[in-house]
Amino acid sequence: SIAENPIAAPPAAFPPSPTTWARRRPVLRQAQEPLAEGGPGGEGHPSIAENPIAATPAAALAACTALLHLSQALASITTPVRLWVVTAGAQRVGEEAVVSLEGMALGASLWAFGRTLALEEPQLACRLLDLDPADGLDGQVETLLAEVQHASSTLQVAWRGMLRWGATVAPWPATPGYAPHAAQRLQLERYGALDALRYVPLATPIPGAGEVLVDVAAVGLNLRDLLNCLGLLQEHYAQVLGIQRAQDVGLGLEAAGIVAAVGAGVDGYAVGDRVMGIGGLMGTLATQTLMPANRLAHVPAGMALADAATLPITFLTVWYGLVELASLQPGERVLIHAAAGGVGQAAVQIAQMRGATVFATASPNKWPLLRQQGVQHCFHSRTLDFAQEILDATGGQGVDVVLNSLNGEFIAASFAALRHGGRFVEIGKREIWSLAEAAERRPDAGYFPFDLLEVLASDAALGPRLWQELLGHVAAGRLRSLPHVCYSADAVLPALRMMQQGGHVGKLVITFAPSAPLRLDPQASYLITGGVGALGLQTAQQLVADGARRLVLSSRRTELSAAQQQAVAELEAAGATVAVVGADVGEGDAVQHLLDRCAALGPLRGIVHAAGVLDDGMLAAQNATRLAEVMRPKADGAWHLHRLTVGCELDFFVGFSSTTALLGASGQSNYAAANGFLDGLLLARRAQGLAGQSINWGPWSEVGLAVARSAHLQRQNMGMISPAQGRVFFHNILVQKTPQLAVIPTQATPRSKPSRADKRTHLRHELAALPHQASRSRLEAWLRGEISQVIGLAAPHTLDANAGFMDLGIDSLMAVELRNRLAAGLECTLHPTLLFDYPTLESLVVYLIEHVLKPSHPVVPPKAEVRAADEQPELAPHDLLAFIAQEFKDLT
Ligand SMILES: NC(=O)c1ccc[n+]([C@@H]2O[C@H](COP(=O)([O-])OP(=O)(O)OC[C@H]3O[C@@H](n4cnc5c(N)ncnc54)[C@H](OP(=O)(O)O)[C@@H]3O)[C@@H](O)[C@H]2O)c1
Repeated sequence: SIAENPIAAPPAAFPPSPTTWARRRPVLRQAQEPLAEGGPGGEGHPSIAENPIAATPAAALAACTALLHLSQALASITTPVRLWVVTAGAQRVGEEAVVSLEGMALGASLWAFGRTLALEEPQLACRLLDLDPADGLDGQVETLLAEVQHASSTLQVAWRGMLRWGATVAPWPATPGYAPHAAQRLQLERYGALDALRYVPLATPIPGAGEVLVDVAAVGLNLRDLLNCLGLLQEHYAQVLGIQRAQDVGLGLEAAGIVAAVGAGVDGYAVGDRVMGIGGLMGTLATQTLMPANRLAHVPAGMALADAATLPITFLTVWYGLVELASLQPGERVLIHAAAGGVGQAAVQIAQMRGATVFATASPNKWPLLRQQGVQHCFHSRTLDFAQEILDATGGQGVDVVLNSLNGEFIAASFAALRHGGRFVEIGKREIWSLAEAAERRPDAGYFPFDLLEVLASDAALGPRLWQELLGHVAAGRLRSLPHVCYSADAVLPALRMMQQGGHVGKLVITFAPSAPLRLDPQASYLITGGVGALGLQTAQQLVADGARRLVLSSRRTELSAAQQQAVAELEAAGATVAVVGADVGEGDAVQHLLDRCAALGPLRGIVHAAGVLDDGMLAAQNATRLAEVMRPKADGAWHLHRLTVGCELDFFVGFSSTTALLGASGQSNYAAANGFLDGLLLARRAQGLAGQSINWGPWSEVGLAVARSAHLQRQNMGMISPAQGRVFFHNILVQKTPQLAVIPTQATPRSKPSRADKRTHLRHELAALPHQASRSRLEAWLRGEISQVIGLAAPHTLDANAGFMDLGIDSLMAVELRNRLAAGLECTLHPTLLFDYPTLESLVVYLIEHVLKPSHPVVPPKAEVRAADEQPELAPHDLLAFIAQEFKDLT
């Protein structure tokens, strides 16, 4: 999958532009030279102005042809030049809504072309830059200039609001130990770093008195989960709860799901009920969990379980804080910190429902959303200026109530914004003021620090009462579930990273798939384009194995080979009705004909788009005609299928794409562009709630397009996907509904690297044994790797040694993780302010050499918990990317 992480903070001040992005096509000038016959704009091709819907693949072809011609022209000149391919909305960053499906399909084909261009013409130093489609070009000119002037070595960059993102290929499953359909729970192997999370098997828990066993469907993530992983609540867990080991910490505070069993003395809940609530000590990040009945509520009819998972912690916290404790009144002013977060969003709703005026802090890129929600007063959440600005905005009076979740000096600043005699509700945990401190510094103010879990534990009747009040407002439509982004259970790590980077709005929800096996509808029809091709027939076999009985396989030919006839006969022998229909999917009418044949067999429920052709050649030998021929089945075909199935209720629409689109491949620029279009279209469909999945296949053995190259691939020590493996992957991808997944066969040896265990154990000794300069280089390389892990940078060598950590996007929670990693790796303790005191890679290297790695500095023996991480996979994501890129370089 492509995981995208912020890689650097923005330059100082980029005000968000209120204008909307008017042009959704990539900002790329078309080459002036005439296109080859039959190319876009040539005879028989509709122009974009005439028919925007049908013209999208033609526009992609035009853009890629322009890029081809431009690169050919640039390759022939001797003056050094650099090439930026600039798009807007060509990438989907995180889980953002897609503004333009057409723009994303078109832009993704350009990006895929650009990846190959970067491989084939390294002297052009081609860079791909995707601007924010929600912002006008005027508002991003400075961003563009900064990118061009900075000349970063990061190949793929996207800007969204104030954040700069870089694309990386992340291993799947992203969370180790995950097994689809198995009973499991998330476990923290050691405190300190997020990559110490893994799934472990779970024995069915038995509910005790007052408890309910819940099949978990969705879990709302909370900051506390992140703080837990980073070890920032370690002391609290040890002292208050008596939990000493990281493995025993229950992760996940809340959940929504289905009641599986009830314990003694539980009234009001029965097996099969849909419930939501706050969990117990075992944690809710598990396929099943025990929840105290008095913290549960029934999910309102019609509310999805993922929506329900956004309610418990947020709304109970805010209701208790603002209504029960602070008794917020109509007409009062309330300051809500982090108003775009989960608790913040619940607070905005409750405050507005009570008739209060909201003063909100948030990152500026989230202000438009808050304004849409009716919040007039927005302030920056990362500076202390809000205090004075609020006083200015209220004629020096300040707010009546503060809902605080920030720490450090933000607390004093928030008190400064509180009017005389106001109420200060504190829901933070770290570095908060004690009652005595508040009484001394602000004796006039009411001070209400609380921990919801502790309050609920001390008053058994409180939970049911709060729920009853809240659900009355939900039922009346006065309160709604929160905006959220869902991550599947195996992607809990990327979700926590998203929380760490603060890139989301509302809640992050982890979903656990129900363990029902895939059953296709025997009455429905399923279409495979390229269905009598090699992978098409394998796919047909798998669909029939999964229950499909009515198949339409498309081919341009009417005569089948003997092998194809036999394969079709085997499908029929397995009970399927198979129609082989002649159609060129590059033609809209032909695709309509295919769909009519499907409808005659039964309602169309699934599409696998496997039609495709190759026409390899280096860029210098490529032209518009060759590009068009390769894009025709993939891009035009996918587009026709997309637009002609708008009314169909599809369970799946899977595109057979290639790793070439993801990584580039010399000699396959046309094929990469075609597959890129397919990826972009399907990802955009998915983002818009339509069926859409893209599989970036690596080479298959025995059958298909890559067989001709198998000897070459073997010499390169490349793995290949056997047909049996391919069918299993296809099945699993259908079950898991993964939007985009690359299946990349690699051979473990002989390039395998020393394990992380070896690396960690020997690092300090290794550094000590090396001559000074070599030791310094080794340390710096290791630090680059660790920093890159935390910020999600794919190419550690590109990290600027003199860039400030803050500028690289490292905020306080990331700094905690990084310091923990360094301390574990160097087997020492490091000061909490290390990364603030030594804020660049360069200064950190100097400090570590002079003060930490000196033989006199005590070595702290690694803890047992630290050793547990030695079971990590051998290749870190950035190593994996480099490895894969190298392996695929020669895939022609
Ligand atoms: N094999 C691999 O290792 C591999 C790796 C990555 C991705 N893929 C992708 O997986 C898909 C299947 O590959 P494969 O190895 O099975 O190749 P294949 O055996 O050549 O099958 C592709 C099929 O696409 C059909 N096709 C081509 N142009 C068409 C058009 N305009 N209209 C309708 N059908 C058209 C061809 O059918 P007719 O000739 O019968 O018309 C052909 O049978 C391709 O899209 C390929 O890009 C394959």
